[in-house]
Amino acid sequence: MILLNDDFIKREKTSINLEDRGFQFGDGVYEVIRYYDKKTFKMEEHLERLQRSAKNIRLQLPYSIEKIKNNLEKLMKESDIKSGNIYMQITRGVAARIHPFPKKAQPTLVAYVTPFKRPLDNMENGVKAHLTEDIRWNRCDIKSLNLLANVLAKQEAVDNESFESILHRNGIVTEGSSTNIFITKNNVIHTHPANNFILNGITRLEVIKLAKENNIEVKEETFTVEDLLKADEVFLTSTTSEVTPIIQVDDIIISDGIPGPITKKLIDLFEQLINAD
Ligand code: PDD
Repeated sequence: MILLNDDFIKREKTSINLEDRGFQFGDGVYEVIRYYDKKTFKMEEHLERLQRSAKNIRLQLPYSIEKIKNNLEKLMKESDIKSGNIYMQITRGVAARIHPFPKKAQPTLVAYVTPFKRPLDNMENGVKAHLTEDIRWNRCDIKSLNLLANVLAKQEAVDNESFESILHRNGIVTEGSSTNIFITKNNVIHTHPANNFILNGITRLEVIKLAKENNIEVKEETFTVEDLLKADEVFLTSTTSEVTPIIQVDDIIISDGIPGPITKKLIDLFEQLINAD
């Protein structure tokens, strides 16, 4: 079953209109929302970000947030997938291909669920990352469908036998290709501030909150590639990766190649949050 605008229809019965602006221009926004045991995680926060993203690209949402929320909950509940992701995108709709906003197009909303297991192995043992230049535009705070630079960066990670690419702009670490990046030094957590150079991850916000509630100092300030390579611990966060330790960046081993104590503590705290929510 998929959600197409306001209708629940069989997946086989759907097709993409070749003049959908999402398909031709990447002209739209999206969200990935996690659900555990048929309970959505931080749905409100994701929908608030969706609203912000849509506003920033001057796209009027076709339905109220309440209606979108109810439809996504229904989609999830009626699926036979117990734990997974809800993927949702909204494009500026179908119209003859011209660059300016079409006058009459109606936005297209599509959502569906996919099964997903918690990446427990990565969380326990840590992953390798690859450093590369951040070649994206200056509005990375918008969760836009234009992910070409992110796709290229992720493929570079794969080519380097890594789980993720860590991006830097002129030596300043911004984020991962689909994750937020944190380091710790002398028991203080550092992560790029939430401005136009990163996507303000929902997981990022939860982890910052958890750290502060547990008396771990957090500095939302920029840090350099040099700081990254000399960090005590490095970890990434995202809806699908939760909190995942990074134990190697290219040839540099971090925290002796094993997940560090602050990262482990945050993994535990995040797990409690999932179970409690
Ligand atoms: N990625 N930064 C970027 C560039 C991202 O694409 C994502 C999410 C994040 C983490 O955000 P959150 O904690 O809200 O998931 C940071 C999603 C999961 C994706 O594109 O698959």
